[in-house]
Amino acid sequence: MKSSALREVAEGVVPKSLISHVPRGFEVVGDIAIVNIPRQLENYRFELAEALLSRFKGRMRIVVRRVSPARDPNRVHSYEVLAGSGGLETIHRESGCTFKVDLSKVFFTSRLQYERIRVARAVRRGEVVVNMFAGVGPFSIVIAKLVQDVKVYSIDINPDAYKLMVENIRLNKVEDKVIPILGDAGEAIDEHGLRGVADRVLMPSPEHAFNYLAKAVEALKPQGFIHYYDVANPKVSLYDHLNLRVREGLRGLEVRWVMRGVRAIRSVAPLKVYACADLEVERATSRP
Ligand SMILES: C[S@@+](CC[C@H](N)C(=O)[O-])C[C@H]1O[C@@H](n2cnc3c(N)ncnc32)[C@H](O)[C@@H]1O
Repeated sequence: MKSSALREVAEGVVPKSLISHVPRGFEVVGDIAIVNIPRQLENYRFELAEALLSRFKGRMRIVVRRVSPARDPNRVHSYEVLAGSGGLETIHRESGCTFKVDLSKVFFTSRLQYERIRVARAVRRGEVVVNMFAGVGPFSIVIAKLVQDVKVYSIDINPDAYKLMVENIRLNKVEDKVIPILGDAGEAIDEHGLRGVADRVLMPSPEHAFNYLAKAVEALKPQGFIHYYDVANPKVSLYDHLNLRVREGLRGLEVRWVMRGVRAIRSVAPLKVYACADLEVERATSRP
């Protein structure tokens, strides 16, 4: 949420000399506010969070901060509760969809809302989509809600994310369009007969996508699209970086590919942005 609210509440809590360190925005997932506390405001974090909570009484239940980058292989973050109570399970609504999430068990961010819509708008009626890193299902479900006659195979390795994805599919009434699969994305493509079926493959996990690029190609029909996610340095040309990474990831495979677009999605740390490359891919088998 881009808002001056945090700055406003900070005025009663933080010395004037430190106000410029108060972040301009904070993230909202359901009734959970996730704030960033810079080093300079460490001693004021609880009062700041209490003030924010009382400002949004009735809308926010709890204020937390992420305590470390998610080192967990399933990208689950650790959180410190700064104000409020009741745990990290919540119902988040975006783009006409409802997602049940539990931040203590799964990865979820509301900051990808625009990216989910952008990808969903690229999907055409009747497509088969494989989402290799689906989490609780937000990309898959937004696509299913927006596009007619789609089939989205939605894979995640985290059993908690899988359980919530199953629930979210039901909550959003897209059981006929989204097929949840629990397991490793690479193995699932082999074991669930997903080789050569997809018009489009989504790889929305910047930390894992590179190692699975070849597998994504295997899931594609002779021609199709891959939405490839990676981590980039904002000081380096995004196009050059992604081009190099994709070339490396696809080295040795008989494919032709074109990068149709690149996009910086969000900054996650100093000198670290999440980015996406939209690839159009043609496998050699499609050539006579
Ligand atoms: C950054 S999260 C993204 C989740 C989801 N796309 C979203 O936007 O909310 C990455 C997800 O990939 C899953 N994951 C990690 N390794 C995996 C693997 N080998 N196969 C399938 N899923 C995996 C994690 O459990 C996690 O839910």
